[in-house]
Amino acid sequence: MSSSRPVGVLDSGIGGVTVMREAQRLLPNEDYIFFSDSVNNPYGDKSDEEIISRCFEIAHLLIDVRGCKALVLACNTASAKAADALRKKYKDTPVFAIEPAYKMVHDLNPEGFTLVLATRGTVNSEKFRRLYYRYYNHNTALLACVGLADLIEQDRAEELKKYLEDTLGKYRGRVQNVVLGCTHYPIAKADMREVLGDVNFFDGSLGISKRLRDILTEKELLNDGGKQGEIIFIDSSPDKEMKKQKEERFFSILNEETL
Ligand code: DGL
Repeated sequence: MSSSRPVGVLDSGIGGVTVMREAQRLLPNEDYIFFSDSVNNPYGDKSDEEIISRCFEIAHLLIDVRGCKALVLACNTASAKAADALRKKYKDTPVFAIEPAYKMVHDLNPEGFTLVLATRGTVNSEKFRRLYYRYYNHNTALLACVGLADLIEQDRAEELKKYLEDTLGKYRGRVQNVVLGCTHYPIAKADMREVLGDVNFFDGSLGISKRLRDILTEKELLNDGGKQGEIIFIDSSPDKEMKKQKEERFFSILNEETL
């Protein structure tokens, strides 16, 4: 058995492209519909109720209207706050959640000084707290990076450099591991390296994509049509010019050689 229905992917903006890249690399034959909710960006400072209700609206569009066979939450904040509610509602559709890759640090370099960067919403969520204290290495600084995802989303390069210098500069020379706990952050890796030097980055995009592959395989839902799949990009902005800009940036990051 197989299924040619698309996979739905959502984020508060274009940041989820960092998950989309890995998913497409592992499952190139799948069709994807990526929903960028830029009108409601950032999610990091919204209440649980607001995020759950917005994710329900997007899930309705992707699953009920567009017929997606799986939903990938390419957003750590939405994953921490809305994944359980979505799974309760969509019992027959697998819902995949991402989380900050702190366990990877525990597995690969637990002694090293670690910075965990995430949105305020993720940092304050119960789900993240459980993960964090489970793998806490007594050598970690946890930073709620208010405003960082917006600077990346809006491509405000100069302000981004200043933000990173102000926030991360004091850790220069003593950091080994950096957990990128928001799907927007890997887009700024090169800028972070300029401030921090050579560090190991960890993010959850490969993990969630592997789970997507494994579950679609197990449920016999893979698209085995044998041809390269396509990605449809939807942005919630009512402004046509804005939509176009988002789409161009999304595909340009998707096709970048290095990230
Ligand atoms: N990209 C999202 C995340 O992974 C959220 C960014 C935001 O909208 O605050 O948390």
